[in-house]
Amino acid sequence: MKLMVMKNYDEISKACAGMISELVKKNSEAILGLATGSTPIGTYKELIRMHKEEGLDFSKIKSFNLDEYVGLGGDHPNSYRYFMDHELFNHINIIKDNTNVPNGKANNLEEFCKEYDEKIDRAGGVDIQILGIGSNGHIAFNEPSSELSVGTFVVSLTESTIEDNKRFFESIDDVPKKAITMGIGTIMKAKKIILLANGKSKANAIKRIVEDRKLTTEIPASLLLLHPDVTFIVDEEAYGK
Ligand code: GLP
Repeated sequence: MKLMVMKNYDEISKACAGMISELVKKNSEAILGLATGSTPIGTYKELIRMHKEEGLDFSKIKSFNLDEYVGLGGDHPNSYRYFMDHELFNHINIIKDNTNVPNGKANNLEEFCKEYDEKIDRAGGVDIQILGIGSNGHIAFNEPSSELSVGTFVVSLTESTIEDNKRFFESIDDVPKKAITMGIGTIMKAKKIILLANGKSKANAIKRIVEDRKLTTEIPASLLLLHPDVTFIVDEEAYGK
């Protein structure tokens, strides 16, 4: 695992966007694994700037997102499809049909999950996967538990995640209780992984991973220690400085 400790959020975002743009320039047909949450917003802003000012070309890029709330359609302002369209896709020249976000309204969720993994495999696998981290150490929506899933699956969100994410909703009762998420195995198949973390609320999870260097399903992000090409880009607060 490579660890980069940056001064602030702006530096994290520039470092991450720099790694993505390097890949996109080298491989115009690269497959990006994308994340939602507040953490990657700065990275997406920087990619949009690179597209507008430097002509960074996404016309042949494909993307797969990590997760989506069950029950929310793409036109719901709290859905992750809506987030991706508004924070990134609508501002760059990626072709919408080449962007994939799990369908939270699929009729048969189990079948959808299986097909999502197959679609990623058929596309050739994710070249670079961006991840945030929950304050409880979750990645995507793989929540702390005695067992973790390998493939994409439907998960019941923990109270702590519902609590963390209620800030985006009118009330805590509006936060969906279930989500579709790539499993740990799906995430680990990515050729390269970048995990971003900023702010004090992430310090405990980051410390337990980078200092203890132990694998535990109680901190799902610790499983990333097994990946051959993973970089944690964190700011000083998330590093506990
Ligand atoms: C959600 C998402 C995760 C994200 C996490 C952290 O639970 N499913 O993919 O990493 O929130 O969010 P934030 O970046 O807003 O702290």
